[in-house]
Amino acid sequence: MMLTNVIQTSNLTRQFRKVMAVDHITLQVPQGSIYGFLGPNGAGKTTTIRLLLRLIRPDEGTVRIFGLSLPQQQQAILRKVGAFVELPSLYPHLTGYENLDITRRLIGANTQKIKDVLKIVNLEKDSKRLVRGYSLGMRQRLALALALLGDPELLILDEPTNGLDPAGIQEIRALIKHLAQERGITVFISSHLLNEVEQVATHVGIVSKGKLIFQGTLNQLQAESEAYIQIKTNQTEVASQLLTSNGFIVRQHSENEIHLVSNSQVNPSIITKLLVENQIEVSQISRVNPSLEEIFMRLTSEKEN
Ligand SMILES: Nc1ncnc2c1ncn2[C@@H]1O[C@H](COP(=O)(O)OP(=O)(O)O)[C@@H](O)[C@H]1O
Ligand SMILES: [Mg+2]
Repeated sequence: MMLTNVIQTSNLTRQFRKVMAVDHITLQVPQGSIYGFLGPNGAGKTTTIRLLLRLIRPDEGTVRIFGLSLPQQQQAILRKVGAFVELPSLYPHLTGYENLDITRRLIGANTQKIKDVLKIVNLEKDSKRLVRGYSLGMRQRLALALALLGDPELLILDEPTNGLDPAGIQEIRALIKHLAQERGITVFISSHLLNEVEQVATHVGIVSKGKLIFQGTLNQLQAESEAYIQIKTNQTEVASQLLTSNGFIVRQHSENEIHLVSNSQVNPSIITKLLVENQIEVSQISRVNPSLEEIFMRLTSEKEN
């Protein structure tokens, strides 16, 4: 089967006054993937999602979903998409069931569908209770149930685990996996936390200051980031001069730590020898493969400046 992109944007751009909220973003979300859309607060995630749903217009760029174009084929697209953006609006004075029933009538689904989605999100027992009394986790699951009412082929969820406790996060995570794996739904999920996404996502896009700075699989993210050699010493100034003049590339150094760009030719024991011969005391030297968290922090903080 050919892998097609369910979401394909091209140079999607939206500015608010002086803020480039979304800056020429070209997304490629493969069919059947769980795509984690990652970035710190204010990076442009919600704005991107609002553009995908045509809740706002782009200044520039195009959106294709299921090969259909916005805004011309918006109705056809939205029939296949379930979504919630930021905190979903629920009616607190109605029960969970009644909240679902309002949307069910709008989209013309039958009442059996309500039972189905309540079961999926595990809210059957609480469906007759007023939403006012729901925990945040229950509200998020009800919002997910609402998004599922129309039998979507694509789910777009904006920070669905925001504010949840670890158990709630675990529940949403399991649900998302189930929807993707058992029902073949493509899931586009935004988050500002890498560890939330890395356990469910097959693909990631990292956004920072409105720009897409990485897109690919988690393995590609790991592979594309360089390992480095970490040297701990109290004489970082002298040591980095020495290493630089010997052809090594010092990526950064702080008060007591140097990071060298690593490649297969760089042997830590040769570096130790060089430093020791020059009377530089080394307390530790090791090759480091950065964790995904480190890579994420580095990618997003570089662009902050
Ligand atoms: N309606 C708006 N008016 C003005 N600025 C906005 C508006 N929406 C978003 N922004 C700005 O655009 C940037 C991206 O915001 P947002 O897309 O909400 O980021 P995220 O969802 O990643 O936290 C932020 O600087 C935010 O302040
Ligand atoms: Mg947001």
